Amino acid sequence: MSVRRIDPKPPLHPLAIDAGSDDFLRGDPLDGKRYYSREFMQREWDDMWTKVWHIAGRVTQLREAGDYIVHDFMHESVIVVMHEDGSLRAFYNVCGHRGQRLAWGDGHQPSFTCPYHGWVWGTDGELRQVPDPDDFPQGNPCGKVRLVELPVDTWAGFIWYSMDPGAPTLAEFLHPWPELYRNHATEDMVRVVWLQVDLETNWKFAPDNFSESYHVRTAHPQVPAVIDQDHYNCRNEVYPSGHNRIMQLVRPSLRDRIPDGQPHPFDAQLRQWNIDPDRYPDYETKVEQGWRDLAEAKVRLGPSQGHPHYAQLTEQDFLYSPHDQLFPNVSVDIRPDAVSLFRTEPHPTDPQRCTFDLWCLSVPVVGADTVRTIAGRRPLAEAAFEHRVFDQGRGLPELAGTVIFQDMQLAEGQQRGQRSRGYQEPYLAGQETRVRAWHETLNDYLEGRR
Ligand code: FES
Ligand SMILES: [Fe+2]
Repeated sequence: MSVRRIDPKPPLHPLAIDAGSDDFLRGDPLDGKRYYSREFMQREWDDMWTKVWHIAGRVTQLREAGDYIVHDFMHESVIVVMHEDGSLRAFYNVCGHRGQRLAWGDGHQPSFTCPYHGWVWGTDGELRQVPDPDDFPQGNPCGKVRLVELPVDTWAGFIWYSMDPGAPTLAEFLHPWPELYRNHATEDMVRVVWLQVDLETNWKFAPDNFSESYHVRTAHPQVPAVIDQDHYNCRNEVYPSGHNRIMQLVRPSLRDRIPDGQPHPFDAQLRQWNIDPDRYPDYETKVEQGWRDLAEAKVRLGPSQGHPHYAQLTEQDFLYSPHDQLFPNVSVDIRPDAVSLFRTEPHPTDPQRCTFDLWCLSVPVVGADTVRTIAGRRPLAEAAFEHRVFDQGRGLPELAGTVIFQDMQLAEGQQRGQRSRGYQEPYLAGQETRVRAWHETLNDYLEGRR
């Protein structure tokens, strides 16, 4: 068998800028202050967080009228509720009488009764009823006062809202993401891991970390056996919207090899799809041709092997493993069978702390009652919310050794270095270009260029 050696890189998307080098950037400095200064944190709030779209939760959390989610973000809190007509409505979690918080966690209520003076708010934000309506010299507040409403929309089974009444639509904000992943069954996925971890680091650790794969060979030595992240084989893209992604190859790296004679996960994958790993004359051919054979087999056989949604997918969807950084703080791996979402949000007052969300979503496989995730094997059922404190890893022992745990371990060390007088302007590799691009988008927000 002979194989024609062809460039494995996916083509550059027509809307994307090739981020294999930094020619398109201004070269804004990446000063350490942005990771610990309260003044910088305030600018982020004023000019960025209040302008972008945020994820409140999953659409599946709101099944009937009166179901609601509370999303606390820094000092702010937003309620997203399903109204009687089935539409989703988002409101600041603030009573229109004298500002009392209306709800403290997700739940179900046909209307919101304020615990202070008993004003009753409908799920459309209208004031339904107040005690002593005749005692208002300026007139009954019903029909005059309502909850302050925010734009809300959905994509990929996530509920998004913005605090900016003049925000671009969600479709405009995300463009072209809905188009990039239109074939994926993201809306039907089940959230099998729903974890939030307190971390002692600035929230920007995550977008920095998820905007480069340069650290993978060092920090995650288990990865090259399953994903080829070698920079000369991958495609780095930055989009005019400020979002970015890397397209990596779903095959082993050719340079970081498992020693011959040891079981290889790629052989097991090939066998699972009726491909004999011994049919290839050498390791290189197995990786290069087997990679394409595997994608072809999944598209052809998937629908009859418990994966009906593969009928909507193409070989391209199985060849590449995208890792996306949606500006500012949502990192997602959207794959045919699963979505992994990583998100950091700032602490309300301390720029050196944040929360890290890990959500693992899976497409149900016919006949399976558990699924494999990046946080281990889990029951195929909607997970309950879990909150932990990382505590240098002690708070999350069951994830020790996983990629996500390794990233969290690095986060706290990075923060200490960025706070130091010894911190220097980063010296970035070409494959780290998306890091600076991300910061230049942030600067665009802060300096009024967006
Ligand atoms: S503050 Fe809500 S009823 Fe008074
Ligand atoms: Fe990592």
